[in-house]
Amino acid sequence: MIEQQNNIVTLLPIDNETIALDDFDNIIIGASIRYGKHNKKVYEFINKNQEILENKENAFFSVNIVARKPNKNTPETNPYLLKFLKQISWKPKNLAVFGGKLDYQKYGVFDRQMIRFIMWLTKGDTDPKSVIEYTNWEEVDKFAKLICNIHNKTLTRSISPDMECISNPQ
Ligand SMILES: Cc1cc2nc3c(=O)[nH]c(=O)nc-3n(C[C@H](O)[C@H](O)[C@H](O)COP(=O)(O)O)c2cc1C
Repeated sequence: MIEQQNNIVTLLPIDNETIALDDFDNIIIGASIRYGKHNKKVYEFINKNQEILENKENAFFSVNIVARKPNKNTPETNPYLLKFLKQISWKPKNLAVFGGKLDYQKYGVFDRQMIRFIMWLTKGDTDPKSVIEYTNWEEVDKFAKLICNIHNKTLTRSISPDMECISNPQ
């Protein structure tokens, strides 16, 4: 979507030591939830680069299964994102939350059983063969359009699998 709007996107892992953040106009960080938490590397990245982040357009989005629930799928209602924002002093200019993918067969025995248990507790799908993508791609597109509108100019580059950084080289 962002590339279709004539931007260049660079997708990089959060722990890429060679990232030259100054080369980007817009930085988007995305992180998924594992057992109630975002990866600690995300906190480290934000703490280390907060000043640079604040001097650029920026955004943060969280991906988790709890966001499958209509009452927990916005930045104002998703408990993981709310908790995360309390733990950091960076205030992202744009926020989003997306439902993630449930794929029991891809998990090891321990994770599968744990996630089935969590899903049972939260009245979700517990069939070990289930593959369900809870992502609302229309919402993802809307977020991407928002980012494009903010940076309707030139190129865009980005960071992450787990964590993305998108930006427009100056
Ligand atoms: C080991 C594991 C633990 C997870 N724990 C949670 C959790 O506590 N809460 C939640 O909402 N989603 C949880 N999820 C769901 C992930 O956040 C979701 O599947 C996401 O799409 C995973 O994206 P990733 O594989 O790119 O990290 C968990 C997934 C895995 C594999």
